[in-house]
Amino acid sequence: MSFYNQVRKITTHVLFEMKLRNEKIAMLTAYDYSMARILDAAGIDIILVGDSASNVMAGYGTTLPITLNEMIYHASSVVRAVSRALVVVDLPFGTYQGNSKEALSSAIRIMKETGAHAVKMEGGSEIRESVERILSAGIPVMGHLGLTPQSIHKFGTYVVRAREESEAMKLRQDAKILEEAGCFALVMEKIPAQLAGEVTKSIRIPTIGIGAGNMVDGQVLVLHDMLGITQEFSPRFLRRYHNLFAEIQGAVQNYIADVRSTDFPNQSEMY
Ligand code: KIV
Repeated sequence: MSFYNQVRKITTHVLFEMKLRNEKIAMLTAYDYSMARILDAAGIDIILVGDSASNVMAGYGTTLPITLNEMIYHASSVVRAVSRALVVVDLPFGTYQGNSKEALSSAIRIMKETGAHAVKMEGGSEIRESVERILSAGIPVMGHLGLTPQSIHKFGTYVVRAREESEAMKLRQDAKILEEAGCFALVMEKIPAQLAGEVTKSIRIPTIGIGAGNMVDGQVLVLHDMLGITQEFSPRFLRRYHNLFAEIQGAVQNYIADVRSTDFPNQSEMY
């Protein structure tokens, strides 16, 4: 068993140490109290209150519509459930790009109103000023490069990023910029495994991959995808650990049948 399973509270310092000792970091998303309790009890290191809540909780087609108030609602529910994991919250689209003052006030609202431990932001050199301003207020920042879903309309598709050398070069430079700016960790999404491995070796902060191979310092998946609650989304990188859609559907069908047949409630279920 890993020494880090015994750690009572995951901090950014613990994550840094895990990288030094080549101990892999496990991260998942959560958006509500009940799921976050299960993840924390299972020993997850980082819970990301991702803006993927826009897709899996609210049913939108992209991460763009979710608002800061909605992220605060999800994050405060998660924080109430957690005693060990580090809780990181996505700054939603439109609350930090292009205006570092607004970025800081968005990050402050998240920290003050949710009790979370850090924020995550998508982008490299373009958001450097915002990252630095947030960090200067003592708020830890996680970076996010590669496929950055808030820019989906610029990319046009969800295909693997940075296959071309020019994009790979920019990603290497952005990773360095985010490290120098003071980010405590970096998510890399849907990029070639070799490139992710190279970046991981070139920076001191931990890298967390999603569709970025096995040469990174940790992995993240969207909870609803790995549990098989979502069905339509099945990229190559996704390992499903359960088929919860079918499990829940079966349980609900059994309940409906029991209600219709008056089998439920029985004598022992009545007062
Ligand atoms: O919002 C999210 O769930 C994310 C992960 C995919 C890293 O950003």
